[in-house]
Amino acid sequence: RLNWSGLIEAYRPYLPVTDSTPVVTLLEGNTPLIPVPMIAKIIGKGVRVLVKFDGLNPTGSFKDRGMTLAISKAKEAGAKAVICASTGNTSASAAAYARRGGMRAFVLIPDGYVALGKLAQALLYGAEVLAIKGNFDQALNIVREMAESYPVTLVNSVNPYRLEGQKTGAFEVVDNLGDAPDWLCIPVGNAGNITAYWMGFCQYHQQGKCNRLPRMMGFQASGASPLVTGQVFTHPETVATAIRIGNPASWEKALAAQQASQGQFNSVTDAEILEAYRLLASQEGIFCEPASAASVAGLLKVKDQVPAGATIVCVLTGNGLKDPDTAINHSNNQFKPGIEPTTAAVAQAMGL
Ligand code: F0G
Repeated sequence: RLNWSGLIEAYRPYLPVTDSTPVVTLLEGNTPLIPVPMIAKIIGKGVRVLVKFDGLNPTGSFKDRGMTLAISKAKEAGAKAVICASTGNTSASAAAYARRGGMRAFVLIPDGYVALGKLAQALLYGAEVLAIKGNFDQALNIVREMAESYPVTLVNSVNPYRLEGQKTGAFEVVDNLGDAPDWLCIPVGNAGNITAYWMGFCQYHQQGKCNRLPRMMGFQASGASPLVTGQVFTHPETVATAIRIGNPASWEKALAAQQASQGQFNSVTDAEILEAYRLLASQEGIFCEPASAASVAGLLKVKDQVPAGATIVCVLTGNGLKDPDTAINHSNNQFKPGIEPTTAAVAQAMGL
């Protein structure tokens, strides 16, 4: 859309803002819903598959949808500093919006488990980055306590404004398609985004903006799949570090969304995530981060259950550029090094 002014302006009547809310925006939202015909072909049965590429937001992930609202509301309340725990994307987004809003940003990250691009962003945006010798779940417990005892506003998805902002992803999907899809496939970590999408679909449905509601299909990495097994993972592990989470904060809400929508939680292995990650890039030209590819990996895993002719949306939550190490280490493709700088040498290297 031309003249896009950010999602708070676009969806103002649906959001908890007033004329006196100072809007902190980087013109997030309005991300493309891209058809992925090769994925649809693998599934067959005349299905239509599209990806909501939220990796095209200003800081490269869906977190910007929640952060524009959380930071605007924090500013409205007079906050001088915000804090979050993060596997990387929340920290990058919080840093960008907080700094733009004139606030300090403190971010706690699990030392050694944040993708390079995300760390680079948080640092350059000007966050105060604290790497803890622990995982995301431990970091989240700490920042929750910090926000109770110190003058810092918590901007993890336990902040209700985060989910209010993120529900606009569902609005955009409906505005694009003219109705809700049959299935919404989404990666699940701390379980905020699946909760937010469900809120968005329900609100739009109540307003008569869509005739149906989608089945919410949540996918977790098998090494970090508490919603699938019903058990907390004390040592979550996955190549998809964004969703390396063992005790999701929005566990109950996500479960309620799954049940109300007759959806499912399923897990995908790291190998399946990486396969979908390579497939999206090499067959569809879409470079997302590994956690995001869990939505497509999951869809492919349960493809036998897909109804004929269904419309399916997979949410691609983050940009592939966030995690260059995984791309290079897990590509099937290699570059040819050390070629002499002559036309003849290049032609030979090309096999011509
Ligand atoms: N995909 C990406 C790229 C993420 O960064 C996250 C979460 C998720 C999916 C899962 O979303 O937590 O709402 O279920 N990242 C958080 C972070 C935890 O700190 O950046 P969720």
